[in-house]
This record gives sequence, structure tokens and C-alpha cells, in this order.
Amino acid sequence: MRADFTPIDWHEIKFSLPSTPAFVIDEATVRQNLQKLADLRALTGCKVLYSVKALTLEYLLDLCLEYVDGFSVSSLFEAKFAKDCSSNSGTIHLTTPGIRSDELEELAQSCTHISFNSLNQFSHYANDINGLTSTGLRLNPRLSYLSDDRFNPCRAASKLGASMEALSQITWPENLQGLHIHSMFAGTDFTPLRAVSSKLLQLLSPNLQKLKWLNLGGGYLYDEIDNIQAFAELIQVLKQSFQGEVYIEPGKAVAGKAGYLVTSVIDCFQSDGKSIAVLDTSVNHNPEVFEYQWQPELIEHEPAAECAVLLAGSTCLAGDLLGEFRFAKPLSIGDRLVFRDVGAYSLVKASRFNGLNLPSIYKYSNTRLTRIKQYDYTDFKSLWSNQRA
Ligand SMILES: Cc1ncc(COP(=O)(O)O)c(C=O)c1O
Repeated sequence: MRADFTPIDWHEIKFSLPSTPAFVIDEATVRQNLQKLADLRALTGCKVLYSVKALTLEYLLDLCLEYVDGFSVSSLFEAKFAKDCSSNSGTIHLTTPGIRSDELEELAQSCTHISFNSLNQFSHYANDINGLTSTGLRLNPRLSYLSDDRFNPCRAASKLGASMEALSQITWPENLQGLHIHSMFAGTDFTPLRAVSSKLLQLLSPNLQKLKWLNLGGGYLYDEIDNIQAFAELIQVLKQSFQGEVYIEPGKAVAGKAGYLVTSVIDCFQSDGKSIAVLDTSVNHNPEVFEYQWQPELIEHEPAAECAVLLAGSTCLAGDLLGEFRFAKPLSIGDRLVFRDVGAYSLVKASRFNGLNLPSIYKYSNTRLTRIKQYDYTDFKSLWSNQRA
């Protein structure tokens, strides 16, 4: 942690929010994470993109533009949004298995670099957009370092990218200007990336000279990794075999630790001997809690404290539970609680299941909370009412 960095004192400020649930993004943490990436860029000469899928918030994209080279996106809407936020300039990389022929031209107009997900798509589409954008291919190194296949791009029979072996066995495609490799999730050391780089150099070396760029994807928690020298050495080795630009596109490393979800207790009761507290939030505001059965981190949790309370979301789903946490005294209606490290892949996946409103969004900047977005019944209605053409 930077010497001049003061964490938010939630015990003080959570009651200053006019209502909950509230998603709060802490500008100081975002800036600290972005500065680390800017330092990495200065040290290695690599280019940095923010992967907007982690948290697609204009306020955050604006902050990113002060530090990074552009954005990485996964769909036409993300591409258009990133372009709008960059005042129609800057670098935008796209890769997705979902490229469709009817969106291709607009994608090519919105993105500066497009990596096709398969050799099949590359051979069908790359020529059509030649000259509009730089065309590349997503490669899958098939080097698996993750035990949970649900978020392992290198799982068996992966849908994500062509194998390096397949590319090494064909004539190098004419318009292949770049390669994209995203193979990790929440990495905190560079062993997997080193293995990817060795395999790339071993299988594709002479042809790498033909490339203009190499995108090494996201999946690393640069905000938590202290030994950045290991990354610098890796880039140096790559740059000996290849003269183009090297990109990285982290998402969670920018937004994850900067996000908080503040919620209120709206009911307390006993069920089969357990204390239940119902919150005004839900797993639908942070769906990975349910998808991966993770227990989110709660600031007020005291592991050795006496009172165990099962925190429950307020939808009809029986499994809408945030987990069991411990407190010094029983919870009461009106208490406020703060989940931390929820900046990435929470709001972007959130739904309005049961008609539960989405959290309002606040920024915390210079010791002040300011609301930057609020949803209401009009948003819900426009989602579901008949289209009035
Ligand atoms: C292709 C690609 N790039 C970048 C990212 C961002 O990864 P992270 O947020 O883990 O850094 C992802 C995440 O799924 C991805 O699929």
C-alpha cells in the first residue's frame, strides 16, 4: 500500500449514504491501481488497456484514460461505449467467440484491433475488414494453471482461441497482424505467463517477426503482485523475438478492490436455531457469489466474535444467501454492512430479478461521497413494458 494512501473508514461514512443498497467506487484505490499499471508500462514499454467488462462505468473509463492506452472489449455495445468514452480516439481491442457477420463492419469501425476466436472465423472474415482495423487471432496455449474449469480458459475442449499447435501447422495467414492470448484468472505470479511465452517462442518463433502486436490478455492481479521485475524480464525476452507492441488488458486489477457494496439489514429472525438477517441486497447484485458459491468479504466480520448470523438476500430464491458472518453483538434492523472487493464482475452481471432495484452508484473522492447514478421504476418499466414504436 502506498505510504500516503488512507483506506476508507467505513464505520464512519456508511451512515452518510442517504439510502442503500449502494455501490461505492473509491477513486483513490482506482488511481493507485492505475498508477501501478502506468509504472509497469514505463518500466517495460508494454501498452496497457483497461478491460471494460470488469466494470463498465463511464466514470471509471474516464479515470482510466488518464493512465492507460485504451480499452479492451468483448462485444459491439462495449466497443461503442468505449469509443464514446474515448471521444472516438484511442486504442480499442476486441476479442470474443461471439463475432457475428451482421456486426462485423460496425465492429471494425469501432475497434482498432480485432482478434478472431478461431482459424475458421479468421479465414472467413479477416479479408472483409482489411484496412478498417488490425486483424489478429486469439490463441489458446492449452496450459492450464486453474483447478476450477468454470473460469479456466485453458480447460479441455476450450471454446476460447485456436491452439498454438494448429497455427504452427498451417501457412501463416496473410492478414495476421496480431495475436491475443488470455489464459489465466486471478493470477498472482507470472509462472503461467512465462510458460505461455516459452511455448509461443518455441512453436511460432520465425513467424512472430511478421506480427505488429501481441496482446497478453488480463487475468493477473497486478495490484497485488509486488515482483513486477519478473514481468519486465518476460517482456524483454519476448521483445528479442518480436518487434511489435505488447499489450496487457487487466480488468479486476483496476476495479476489484476499489468497489464496495453497502447494504442495510431489513429483518432479523431465527430459523432452525440460526440467526438470519435479511439485507436490502441480493446475490443478484453480485452474482458470482451464487455462480461460484464464494463468500464475499464483509468489513464488519470479526472471525472470533460471538454472534454468527446468516446474511440473506431479499429475493424469493432460497439459495440467495451471502454467507455466515460473525459479529460482536446481534444484528438489528437498520444496521449497515459493507462488502468489499466487489468492484469487478459484480454490477456488470447484476440483474433486477424479483424487481429488486439495482444499487445506486457513488464515487468516493477527496473524502466525499457523490452519487453518480441511480435507477428507478422507469428503468425497470422500460426493460419489460411493450415496445412503443
Ligand atoms: C479476453 C479477456 N481479456 C481480459 C480479461 C480481464 O481479465 P481480468 O479482469 O481477470 O484481469 C478477460 C476476463 O475474462 C478476458 O476474457
